[in-house]
Amino acid sequence: MSKLSQPHLLGIKNITREDIELIFETADNFKEVINRPIKKVPSLRDVTIANVFFENSTRTRLSFELAQKRLSADVVNFSASTSSVKKGETLLDTVNNILAMKVDMIVMRHASVGAPHFLARHIKANIINAGDGTHEHPTQALLDAFSIRERFRKLEGVKVAIIGDILHSRVALSNIFALNKLGAEVMVCGPPTLLPRHIASLGVKVELDLKKALEWCDVANVLRIQLERQQIKYFPSLREYSLYYGINRPMLDSLKKDVVLMHPGPINRGVELTSDAADSRQSIILDQVENGVAVRMAVMYLLAGANS
Ligand code: CP
Repeated sequence: MSKLSQPHLLGIKNITREDIELIFETADNFKEVINRPIKKVPSLRDVTIANVFFENSTRTRLSFELAQKRLSADVVNFSASTSSVKKGETLLDTVNNILAMKVDMIVMRHASVGAPHFLARHIKANIINAGDGTHEHPTQALLDAFSIRERFRKLEGVKVAIIGDILHSRVALSNIFALNKLGAEVMVCGPPTLLPRHIASLGVKVELDLKKALEWCDVANVLRIQLERQQIKYFPSLREYSLYYGINRPMLDSLKKDVVLMHPGPINRGVELTSDAADSRQSIILDQVENGVAVRMAVMYLLAGANS
């Protein structure tokens, strides 16, 4: 069985290009599987996986659960809002109790940066980071890069602009790491208050003007304004943000090419993207969601292989 070079997927920063390419090749096969009439394989029949979510999620949680079921794994779901965390139990106690029930792999989303890294130092099960605060969201970046590779048949040299709230985005950071490793060119674009001060040191171009960013790129990966992570006001109003950084049909039509539009979801329609952009033929947003299942199947299959 093929395997990754490490037992966990904590972030993109510390995995190799070879690991990412192995995930993509494996995901190609699983994408074929999930489009068959019988969408299931027995690959993880003896593996039990817990989805441990301390933060809200629609796509990531359902995508992991479907991926696990397509691989025939046994699945248990944990939601902090209905758990004994509310009674004061620690993260480590909670996870150790889940593991005592013979769980082999933990998929965790947590609001605190580094929570999955902390767990990896204390427990033996495989851990997948499903988003830790403003830090990393590795499977989102993998499915994003996989979707770009699918559209362009390569990543080397593809120009990707990541647009919006870069400062609070774990998707942006994981995408930058992934795309840099795979040879794409990366630009970030947003209001100066939402761009981290030293972002250029990660090897990305920085652009404040949305029109110029769109003229430069092949792909625009548009991010949501993450109001839930903003303690202060970074721009006067959503209306003003949308005026300067919202992507709409007239703006796309004014370009001399068709930029591919991506968004990790959830979309705030009318803020960062209007519906006639989000739902246009240039959008691959739902392809991203489909690819998420195949990519997550690949990650879990390969991590389980790391134990063999
Ligand atoms: N893209 C993403 O992480 O979406 P959810 O928050 O719905 O999981």
